[in-house]
Amino acid sequence: MDTSWFRNAGLGMFIHWGMFSVHCRGEWCPYQEQIPIKEYDERYMDLFTADEYDPELWAQYAVRAGMKYMTLTTKHHDGFCLFDTKTTDRNAVKRGPKRDLVRPFVEACRKYGLKCGLYFSLPDWSVPAFMTGPHLTPKEWGEFLDTIVFPQVRELCTNYGKIDMIWYDNIVGMSNGKESFEVNTNFREASDSTPNEKLTAEDYRSRELNAMIRKLQPDIMINDRSLLPEDFYTAEQNLTPPKDPNRLWEACITLNKHWGFYPADPYYKSIFEVLHSITAVACHGGNMLLNIGPDRYGRINNDERRILEAVGDWMKKNEEAVRGVERCRMNGGSYGCAAQKGNKVYLYLHFANEEGFITIPHCTEKFKSAYMLDSGKPLTLEYKQGKLVVHGTPRYEYNNIPVVVLER
Ligand code: GLC
Repeated sequence: MDTSWFRNAGLGMFIHWGMFSVHCRGEWCPYQEQIPIKEYDERYMDLFTADEYDPELWAQYAVRAGMKYMTLTTKHHDGFCLFDTKTTDRNAVKRGPKRDLVRPFVEACRKYGLKCGLYFSLPDWSVPAFMTGPHLTPKEWGEFLDTIVFPQVRELCTNYGKIDMIWYDNIVGMSNGKESFEVNTNFREASDSTPNEKLTAEDYRSRELNAMIRKLQPDIMINDRSLLPEDFYTAEQNLTPPKDPNRLWEACITLNKHWGFYPADPYYKSIFEVLHSITAVACHGGNMLLNIGPDRYGRINNDERRILEAVGDWMKKNEEAVRGVERCRMNGGSYGCAAQKGNKVYLYLHFANEEGFITIPHCTEKFKSAYMLDSGKPLTLEYKQGKLVVHGTPRYEYNNIPVVVLER
């Protein structure tokens, strides 16, 4: 299996979109507000019209931002499917938009040269057996897997041609063991008391499920949230890399505090914070999956656009420093962090030194030359007292993370 596209991607777009985009309170709303599924469907399903759905526009934004793949929530925890399915009427062809929304997404990815990731939630709040769990209701749980989970995943892997990634989601027991630092304590406390708190890969028959996927899509990459390690590790709302330095990994973060459309949350990250996160993940060899949460019509909002454009402007000059880079012994110092690729070391200047130099501690490696990645401006190197000092680095630059290149 060729995973090089993933290793070299650096950046991708996460898209949280579905009937949960209607109520404007994020994708956890039905659970957090204890809305019975029947009432949830009556209130919101047909309002999810996707009138302005244009995945080509999303793809253009992704390309503009320097992203190499897109991952769409084809079914989130509310169980509503954006794809045509024989398993339930709660899908976009029968209700709401009355058309398959996954097909045009996959086509847009292909048209714009983006790899295509399909997010699929194993948890499904619309199925009573999921809520009671495999221990209380084993027979019904088995039916849930046989009539919902397996056939839906099969449909996703059969009906749309080549898919590049299955991005499972789960509610608890995610392999990184970390909770969101943008903590939503309510749902964490609530989910602690559900019977399906301690689900395992055995409960989901994940081995069998993933074997099925690989048979249908031999080149596909699968994330770690079926509770098996599979091809790559996922960190959520944190930038902590996996322990194994050779493991492929990806961090996903929100741009405001929510994944799904939530207009009452205008607390978007600064451009600096987003670039900081991208480079902090790159210095550990990971990809960054930046989330957007379109509204029920499929529109990206102005804040998201603004951030994507700024990321794109930065990527135009600096993409070389985040694609396909790996961890580097020199990582760390008062300036920020570092990664390497081939004969180059990239130093991400998170914080400027007003005096116009940076210090790389414990560095005796003799580099041939150094320059600024965005402007090509040459820098001078001075070795002293077991450290390397690079002279000529920029002073403070608002909303920018300048990159220094050291050539071996
Ligand atoms: C968590 C949340 C979910 C979100 C996902 C993204 O699992 O439950 O709503 O889609 O994180 O990583």
